[in-house]
Amino acid sequence: MKVQVDRRDGLMAAADITASGVFERPEKDDTFPRSLQKEDEATHGHIKAAWARKEVKGKRKELTTFHRPDGKGRIVLIGLGPRAKFSPDVVRRAAAEVVRGCKGRGARTVAFILGSFVGDNVRSEAAAAALTDGAILGNYEFSKYQSTTEGHIEEASIHLGEEFSRDEAALKKVVVGQAALDDVVVWTRDIANLPADTASPQRLAEEATALAKEFGLKVTVFDEKKLAEMGCGGILAVGSGSTAHPPRLVILEYPGGARRGRTIAVVGKGITFDSGGISIKPAPSMYDMKFDKSGAVAVLGILRAAATLKLPPRVIGVLCCAENVPSGTSYRPGDVVRSYNGKTMEILNTDAEGRVVLSDGLGYVVKQYHPDEVIDLATLTGAQVVALGDDTAGMVSNDEKLAQGLLAASASTGEPLWRMPLTDYHRELVKSDVADVRNSTEIPVAGMLTAAAFLESFVGTTPWAHLDIAGPAYTTPRTRKWQPAYQNIGAVAFGVRLVTRYLEAAPPRG
Ligand code: BES
Ligand code: ZN
Ligand code: ZN
Repeated sequence: MKVQVDRRDGLMAAADITASGVFERPEKDDTFPRSLQKEDEATHGHIKAAWARKEVKGKRKELTTFHRPDGKGRIVLIGLGPRAKFSPDVVRRAAAEVVRGCKGRGARTVAFILGSFVGDNVRSEAAAAALTDGAILGNYEFSKYQSTTEGHIEEASIHLGEEFSRDEAALKKVVVGQAALDDVVVWTRDIANLPADTASPQRLAEEATALAKEFGLKVTVFDEKKLAEMGCGGILAVGSGSTAHPPRLVILEYPGGARRGRTIAVVGKGITFDSGGISIKPAPSMYDMKFDKSGAVAVLGILRAAATLKLPPRVIGVLCCAENVPSGTSYRPGDVVRSYNGKTMEILNTDAEGRVVLSDGLGYVVKQYHPDEVIDLATLTGAQVVALGDDTAGMVSNDEKLAQGLLAASASTGEPLWRMPLTDYHRELVKSDVADVRNSTEIPVAGMLTAAAFLESFVGTTPWAHLDIAGPAYTTPRTRKWQPAYQNIGAVAFGVRLVTRYLEAAPPRG
């Protein structure tokens, strides 16, 4: 979808859809909002009449369509909820509702009236960015395998009118930057949505290689032979069950735009299918485990965003890719395997495979690149979903500044993140009788945090943040109803906008 800034009054543009936001009307105030005056005139009084009969209440998700008597398309009012609870995320959701509600219904173009999406806590720039975000992400659909698809919205315009025409240059810059990032999210979703027969570890390595070629990045792909030479026992063990799709470790390097830029490593769990292995999962929803590569695919997206937006820090992307399936060659419960950094891991449950592949990726990047910070993204535990739900990612970090920076980025992108504690209790629980650590615990408590305690032993003292994205990484038909309209069914590419915004704001090394 193309998004443009247009200085004209939106009603003049004659787009298929003209969209205006409307705040929820206070209970005892029936005055017709002055801001809808022009829209009302364009419908010859129909909006005022709808207001009078309380057809329009301004509640969130409320979409009301008016057909212009002059034949110049439709005017759509989208509810913004109460004025006091207005935020950029309300605008993001509203734009997505408009696009989602109108696509496939004979509309090709949408014109947003910027002034109607601006409020006390949301200035024009934040509103324009959120409209762009919501429109592009709300328009997304994974239709690669469908022979017929409903139409998409092809163009959105954000109209300044007289009110904001002075700010045109600044608003254009914001919208161009936001659209570039959202295009990366769309690209990322397209890869994350690929099923496991297609998105093998080798295919992810090929995507990384193509990305590197497009942007002149450095890429290294370690295959199973090389992994054995290097001593990456974790990735090899998890990948050992799949003869069809052997494991890969992929390193991508974006050199950074700043002279004194920091080096930040981003490490992703790339299990292309997680059947559980010998500790096999039950059949219901096992198919969702094609999304168990979401962390690694987000890393691809973050690298693409860093290169596209020419971010200041140097970014090292690490994709730990394997397919976790049972067979005669699979790793087993009880096995002890050695990770890249020399530590041994006792396997109690082959379904706790994410931490096992990440151990090599984390150990490798810390030893080879001495990064200033490491961020990992992983659909790591069901316990994360139980604790925080399917909208909010869990964060565990050993560094205050990094944690605060990520929380600030989360607030600005609307990707919810909640910090969780890591204590000696969790470290104690992953101690093993026969190895340095074990990949599962005897008692089923604090699953998200014992997983983090396991990972911690492979990053040492490097400032590190672990993002468990098991819940928010994908949306199912069942959870869809509860999610914002900018999340389609399937892969969300959670973390791409968040980590990119973090990298953008990361201060140079002082
Ligand atoms: N990939 C799963 C975690 C997951 C669950 C992701 C639900 C997305 C949605 C992970 O590999 C796993 O199976 N973890 C186990 C660990 C346990 C065996 C210690 C879990 O959470 O049950
Ligand atoms: Zn698993
Ligand atoms: Zn998994």
